[in-house]
Amino acid sequence: MSAPREQFGSRLGFILAAAGSAVGIGNMVGFPVAATKNGGGAFLLIYAIFVAFICLPVMLAEMSVGRHSRKDPLGAYSSMTGGHKGWKVAGWLSIITPFMIAVFYLVITVWIFGYLYHSVTGNLEMLANPDTFGFFINGYDLFFYMVAVLAIIYLILQGGVRQGIEKAAKFMMPTLFVMLVALVIFVLTLDNAFEGVKYYVIPDFSKINASVVNGALSQAFFSLSLGMGIMITYGSYLDKKTDVPGSAKMVALLDTAVAFIAGLLILPAVFSFNPDINTNDLSDSSVGMIFTFLPKIFLALQATIGYVGASAVASFFFLLVFFAAITSIVSIFEVPVAALMEEKSFSRRKALGWMGLLLVIMTVMAATSFGMLDFFTGFVSYAGQSKSFFDVIVDVFYDTILPLNGLLICLFVIYRWKKENFNKELDEGAPNYEHSWFERYVDFSVGTFIPVILLLVLINTI
Ligand code: PHE
Repeated sequence: MSAPREQFGSRLGFILAAAGSAVGIGNMVGFPVAATKNGGGAFLLIYAIFVAFICLPVMLAEMSVGRHSRKDPLGAYSSMTGGHKGWKVAGWLSIITPFMIAVFYLVITVWIFGYLYHSVTGNLEMLANPDTFGFFINGYDLFFYMVAVLAIIYLILQGGVRQGIEKAAKFMMPTLFVMLVALVIFVLTLDNAFEGVKYYVIPDFSKINASVVNGALSQAFFSLSLGMGIMITYGSYLDKKTDVPGSAKMVALLDTAVAFIAGLLILPAVFSFNPDINTNDLSDSSVGMIFTFLPKIFLALQATIGYVGASAVASFFFLLVFFAAITSIVSIFEVPVAALMEEKSFSRRKALGWMGLLLVIMTVMAATSFGMLDFFTGFVSYAGQSKSFFDVIVDVFYDTILPLNGLLICLFVIYRWKKENFNKELDEGAPNYEHSWFERYVDFSVGTFIPVILLLVLINTI
């Protein structure tokens, strides 16, 4: 007999935990860079439309399945279909995907932790050296940082839903928000900062094309932690009194707000550092931005605010990103852990131990695929390119399986579970949702054009 299912202690706790999952490295860096390169305000507008009209309904589908079944994604698909084999595959995908994404996300989080360590200890000059990153990701120090990060994740998840995940989110999310706003205020006082703001918000519709639109949707989907079984799992820790649609709206709003505000930090900093910058030169990836571009800015700040000031700003920034990353990793790792607890009746400790071991092995494989070990660096080759183990995870899981999982959950709620049951679940605890235009919109979109759009994204990737 297993113990009664754990639950979040309050609606606020749930919202902060889910927002903690959603707010991550994607918000802090990926979004601002993508927005700047792809038409500023025009990108912001498209992104916001996708969040409200596509991602929010998918989030409701995931949360409702979780709360209804009160199970992990595999248990949910299985119990709601009487053990149907095909839907079980969807359940498996929702367990494997988060695990694999955890691997690649953990590698980046470990790097962030290393940069945080070096900022706190005042090694700005070293971090700003363009060669540092290459050495850093291939250095053995990495294993030390990895152990530290894993210990933090273990400590949080060990506490369970209320004492672990919820408590961490209640501390980290408000702290993150305050630090973010404080940094924005500081950055806006720098010379030329408003050029950056202008560049970020003024729309340039000429930059919008099909690939930008596709990119905006993928970014929004990933940012809201969809297609990874997370919202199913977090939803399963909710009681029937919680207003799910209202909470989901808050999560989407918080996530989007943090992404937007992060742009008010990054772009003014970039422009004040280099007033003549051509935004096409901004690094294509979040990784390049965090680990090579921003450290140069932190070092340059020494001239205005001194060594201690500049180190403090850098430390603040990396701590902020680290908090964002940790609350995301915790959510993603909780999915396979919950599945082991549910399906195999493992204790939390035992599930964490086994999954942790597997995660360490896979993460070492991914972390050593940047040159340390040839085998993982040139792991396979396809599409005419040699791919590292890390690349494979990104290509397969981030680019391909995420939209597929989104597509499956949409089809599942409307055509297998049925619209009436889906609505009934969401109406509970949310009297205002019942018969609202929003409910009608969600039903319609989840059953029609959202799966079509996700299918198009999928086809486009393949
Ligand atoms: N939403 C996170 C982000 O924007 C991404 C993420 C969440 C990744 C949870 C994995 C797990 O960075």
